[in-house]
Amino acid sequence: MASSDQGSSGAPKPVPGSYGLPVIGAVRDRLDFYYFQGQDKYFESRVERYGSTVVRMNVPPGPFMAKDPRVVAVLDAKSFPVLFDMDKVEKKNLFTGTYMPSTSLTGGYRVCSYLDPSEPTHTKVKQMLFNLLLSRKDEVIPTFRSNFSSLLATVESELAKAGKAEFNKLNDVTSFDFIGEAYFGVRPSSTDLGSGGPTKAAKWLIWQLHPLVTIGLPMILEEPLLHTFHLPPFLVKGDYKALYKYYSTAGKQALDMAEGLGLSREEACHNLLFATTFNSYGGLKVLFPGLLANIANGGEKLHERLVAEIRGAVAEAGGKVTLAAVEKMELTNSVVWESLRLDPPVKFQYGHAKKDLEIASHNGVFAVKKGEMLFGYQPCATKDARVFGSTAGQFVPDRFVGDEGSKLLQYVYWSNGRETESPSVDNKQCPGKNFVVLVGRLFVVELFLRYDTFTATVGTGLLGTSVVFTGVTKATSGPGS
Ligand code: HEM
Repeated sequence: MASSDQGSSGAPKPVPGSYGLPVIGAVRDRLDFYYFQGQDKYFESRVERYGSTVVRMNVPPGPFMAKDPRVVAVLDAKSFPVLFDMDKVEKKNLFTGTYMPSTSLTGGYRVCSYLDPSEPTHTKVKQMLFNLLLSRKDEVIPTFRSNFSSLLATVESELAKAGKAEFNKLNDVTSFDFIGEAYFGVRPSSTDLGSGGPTKAAKWLIWQLHPLVTIGLPMILEEPLLHTFHLPPFLVKGDYKALYKYYSTAGKQALDMAEGLGLSREEACHNLLFATTFNSYGGLKVLFPGLLANIANGGEKLHERLVAEIRGAVAEAGGKVTLAAVEKMELTNSVVWESLRLDPPVKFQYGHAKKDLEIASHNGVFAVKKGEMLFGYQPCATKDARVFGSTAGQFVPDRFVGDEGSKLLQYVYWSNGRETESPSVDNKQCPGKNFVVLVGRLFVVELFLRYDTFTATVGTGLLGTSVVFTGVTKATSGPGS
């Protein structure tokens, strides 16, 4: 049960915290969040100030995009899973939080991410995605390998020419083609979209996410431009139309199947576009740089151990990268989970209390009223020292290895559910959960079949980490050499 930690010891207390003055308080907090404190400090300082990991606060963007910025934040490993419990929270129209992008960005439809499981269309769309992923499961490994070995070949030629290779740019192009080929058997770059797919997709993503990001411009420009009003959807209409054309053609089989589930072709296609471009592509844009950065920082010792494990398992499988071989790679798998724990690519989760609730944190039990917005900042929950000890804030490659290590997997929440639980049509856990963990593992496998070690510099980009390769040492032994 997702909420097994929700014990109730002691009488419920009112949730501490403050929203400040209407409008002014929310704007002031938005500035703290983006400019004066930064994301992590924003949450940590409020936990400290009120001595509680269940605490009232405003969340961005606030006026004038969000009707109500007030939330009850759940910021430890114990209270956070209330957000996974469909008996306790409603997840309608809150995928992006306290504001919702215009449905004209999604063909006039509320797509799956904005639907509560109680809505019949949620079941149909999520089932369509489960069926699609299942029908393509044998394509994932070969497609991944061909796309990412070609990315690494480009890294090598850029290193030879310029002494560095920017991973994020290459990843954007490769991940976009990889997903299209893995899901539909058609590389977007080989269609009318040409090489423009990733740029069109990124522009459309910005139109939905701009209230939540800073792009490094002075505050005086960003505030009116990004954080106060929605960017007009018509400016991205042409890009969306071009993407839609690709999905309606390449996704023909998936759309036939969706009609069998009772969805209209059009609604199914807008959902395919969203699940592929926003959920999958948007996810991989952040996942791989984060994973690569953690492995780069792990240094040569970690690389040596990964090389030994990966090449050993692949040799045992007759020189092939198979699902069974990957499953045996305990350290590799632990590295992927540890990266998802430390840097969850989707950091915010929301839910409206369906009824009056009692929420238990490590420190007490708190009373929340029906209709209040609950909010989780995931890094606070998955870096909880009460669960992960004094190394909670560090990358520990072996953390999930062995019987003891695997007991901690229940506290890995990146998929909007525990890592030990599974997505279904009745919950809001990510339907791409197994796919994401698999491609994370394949990414590490591809790296260390090809290289003995590598070096990279790590920085911060628009949606997360940015990584630049500065050197690679080609494999000297084993199946990758
Ligand atoms: C939902 C994360 C990749 C499809 C979610 C949610 C999270 C998440 C946190 C829950 C959002 C919420 O309701 O609060 C991620 C991450 C990914 C990833 C970090 C990659 C690194 C994918 C992929 C697919 C996918 C590959 C492809 C099918 C979806 C869909 C939902 C969802 C359709 C809505 C689920 C529902 O309504 O029940 N994802 N996801 N995601 N994800 Fe993923």
